[in-house]
This record gives sequence, C-alpha cells and structure tokens, in this order.
Amino acid sequence: MAESKRMNRRTFIGNSSKFIAATAILPMGLSHPVFAKSPKTKLKIAMVGTGIRGTSTWGKELVEYYGDFVEMVGLCDSNYKRLEVAKKRIGTSAKTYEAKDFDLMIKETRPDSVIVTTTDSAHEKYIVRAMELGCNVISEKPIATEVDHCQRILDTEVRTGQKVDVTFNVRYMMESDAIKKIILSGDLGKIISIDFQEYLDVNHGASYYRRWHGKIKNSGSLLVHKASHHFDMVNWLLDAEPLEVKATGRLAYYGNNNSFRGRNCRTCTFQNKCKFYWDMTKSKNSMELYGKCEDVDGYFRDGCVWDNEIDSYDTSVVEVLYNNGTILNYSMNAFMPYEGQRISLTGEKGRLDVRIFARQPWKTDHSIELRLSKNFGDSITWGITPPKGGHGGADDKMKDMLLKPNQPDPLNKRAGSRAGILSSLIGIAARQSIETGEKIEVLKLIRFPKK
Ligand SMILES: NC(=O)c1ccc[n+]([C@@H]2O[C@H](COP(=O)([O-])OP(=O)(O)OC[C@H]3O[C@@H](n4cnc5c(N)ncnc54)[C@H](O)[C@@H]3O)[C@@H](O)[C@H]2O)c1
Repeated sequence: MAESKRMNRRTFIGNSSKFIAATAILPMGLSHPVFAKSPKTKLKIAMVGTGIRGTSTWGKELVEYYGDFVEMVGLCDSNYKRLEVAKKRIGTSAKTYEAKDFDLMIKETRPDSVIVTTTDSAHEKYIVRAMELGCNVISEKPIATEVDHCQRILDTEVRTGQKVDVTFNVRYMMESDAIKKIILSGDLGKIISIDFQEYLDVNHGASYYRRWHGKIKNSGSLLVHKASHHFDMVNWLLDAEPLEVKATGRLAYYGNNNSFRGRNCRTCTFQNKCKFYWDMTKSKNSMELYGKCEDVDGYFRDGCVWDNEIDSYDTSVVEVLYNNGTILNYSMNAFMPYEGQRISLTGEKGRLDVRIFARQPWKTDHSIELRLSKNFGDSITWGITPPKGGHGGADDKMKDMLLKPNQPDPLNKRAGSRAGILSSLIGIAARQSIETGEKIEVLKLIRFPKK
C-alpha cells in the first residue's frame, strides 16, 4: 500500500530523490514575467462596459500600472451615469460615449484594441462590431453565451483578420500552473479522467443570484458565465477539445424556491427574516457605481435571490468526453456552507488531488493543497499559498501577457477565440442537454475555419 505522508515542500525535496527532477515543475509560483520595455507607441484602448470589472481590473489598474504600455482613449456604457462614475474612478481623461455611440467612439478615438466588459450576453455584439471597425478585441469571459454568437465572432475574425483575446485569468493561477507542469512532466502518464467540483458558498454563490447573472438571458447560466473558466482550464490542461456533453441541472435553491420575495433588498419588507438580506447602503462603492445609477436602466445590484424570473441552475453535473479520450466529470453547487474546489486527475501512472480553499469559515494551513500519488508508489502532499492581488495575482500576470510586448508564453496561456468559444460551447451544450435530456455533440454546433 502506498504510504501517505504529510510534508512541506522542503521535506519533500529532501526525501524524495525520485521527484527531484520534477520539483522544477512543481508549484513554485509562476516565473516572473520578463522585463518589458516601454514600447515606442502605446496600445490605444477603448472599453465598453464600465461596471466593476471594467472600472477596476481593466480601468483603474490599467491607468495606474500600465501607463507605459497603454493609453485609455474611450469609455462606453449603456448607463450614462455609471459611465461618468467610472471615468472618475478610473482616473482617466478618456472621452465617454453612450452605448448607441459605440461606432462614433471607435471612429473618433481610433483604438487599437477594444476591451469588452459588458454583461455576458452583450459581448458578441461589441466583439463583432469592434473587429468590423478595424480593432482587435480583449473580451472578458465568457466570449459568448449563444451558439450563433460564437459563429458570428469566428466568421468576423476570419473575414476581418482582427484578433480576439479572451481573459481566462484562471490559466494564470498558481494551481493551474502547478497542475499543467505536473501533467507535462509525465508523472501521471496519460490523463484518463478528471473530477472537478466547484463549490460556491452562500455568499459568493448568492451574489450571482442578486445580480444579472441569475438570468440565463444575461449570463447564459452559471454553466457559461462561471463554468466557462473551468471548462477552459480543463481544455487547456489537456490540450484537447470537447466532443460530447451530457448534463443534468436544477434550480434547487434560489429563485422560486422560497415562500417570500421582494424586488431588491433595500425596499424589501422581509429584511428581518431573510438570511440573504444585504444592506447595500453600507457599501459606498456599490451605491456610487450602481445604486445612484438605477434610475437610468432599472438595474438593482441588490436584487432578490428569490426573484421568480431567476432561471440559472444552481446545481449541475456535466460529463464531457474529449477528443483524446479523457472524460471530465464536473459539478457545481452555488449554496454551500464553504467555498472552493476539488480537482482530481487520474492518469495511467497515478493521481493528482488538488483542494482549493477560499474564504473558508475555518482556518486552513494553506489555501491550496496538492497530493501526488503514484500507482504502487508514494503519495506526497504539499501546500501553496497564492500571493495577494486580484484572483491570487492571476489578473496581473494576465494583464502583463496581454498588454506588455513580447511576453514569453511557454505554457500557452494566452487564449484566443477558439479557446473562448470551446469553453462557452461546453456550457451552452450542457444547457441544451439539461433542457432536452440529449447528449450534445459540441463540434457539430459550430463551423470552425480550416486550420
Ligand atoms: N475574469 C474574471 O475573473 C471576471 C470577474 C468579474 C467579471 N468578469 C466579467 O466581466 C464582465 C462584466 O462583469 P461585471 O461584474 O463588471 O458586471 P457589472 O454589472 O458591474 O458591469 C457590466 C456593465 O456593462 C454595462 N452594460 C450592460 N449591457 C450593455 C450594453 N448592451 N452595452 C453597453 N454596456 C452595457 C452595464 O451598464 C454595466 O456597467 C462580465 O462579462 C463578467 O463575466 C470576469
């Protein structure tokens, strides 16, 4: 029987000469990006969708830390009040445009790239139009929420010769780096199956149901909005493409699964009774960016988690068969007492178990624990703790890759439209499978141009 030992990484290196060669590829943290010199001309950027992601990660942080590389030239949003709040917060003199004037923004400001950070279902419209007007695109995930959106993006990319980057920051997380390197080392042999469990707790999970994400028409469901991160991670780890998807899902907790409901927390008569009551007035940021802009579009950032119109599944199981034979068994639950992930890869030679703890209600030694077990051999565990910064430092690494010139990319982390579309299509296929009970052939949903 393999004896399992708990040890830190130093002990592990000392004890296991067999694995010493592999330590070079173990979770040491990501290599530091090479120093990038300021280019002679800066990348001119316009952004559409000035909500929290646009204002922070792709706004303020760009202006503050990437000023040598990029120049923000235009901002656009369907909510003119939010647009002005965003401009102030970002700290830019870029001109602002309402959504109906998107074309005018491109014409007047001539950006090289357009960053798309609107609600998910609006991504396609701006991605396509930006390319038609001669711009490259950096799109937040998911690239698209519907099959026809995916096709139009692909066709436009081919027709215009412009390029889309998709912001899969999960590829830049420490655990992703560690898993990818272990797979590439060959220690596990060929990967036969992956079990991936996504745990969203009653805070994080509920936050989706308070916002636009709870409605499929906006987000394509959490299977597209949220799980596209995870499907892309698996596609990228395996360097393989999905063939078949079969899924089961339910809205088992939020939405109409309660006896009372209101419009939004601030006006609700059940504040004392509801466990999900959130006093948004205590968040100055949220009040400025959303609360004071409500009259323009009627969007409530503190929407009711029991809204009868919520239809995005909070409980789902998805099976994916890949073109290299690997089987993925994925599950997501959005109302758990704790948060995190459990990812296990079973290969011909062994198994890798990864447990990610995030915002746990109890203390853990590390926020990520890994166990590598060899068939008929040892089992070793170690922990890693990601640095501070958006998504464990992953956002900064991704921005370096996308915004600084000549960044090395040995693990192929930079993701284009094909990766974006394949991850969205797994979620869309899962949705179709839930609705029809059928197994969905993913590559039949789309016509990829010949490579
Ligand atoms: N990669 C990540 O880790 C990560 C994290 C958060 C959000 N995101 C993505 O970023 C995007 C924005 O999310 P958010 O949390 O900032 O949401 P948000 O609600 O704060 O912002 C969305 C903005 O889009 C605007 N908008 C909506 N429809 C529009 C339209 N048709 N035209 C122009 N503007 C429109 C809204 O007015 C709002 O200002 C989403 O696609 C989301 O999936 C990614």
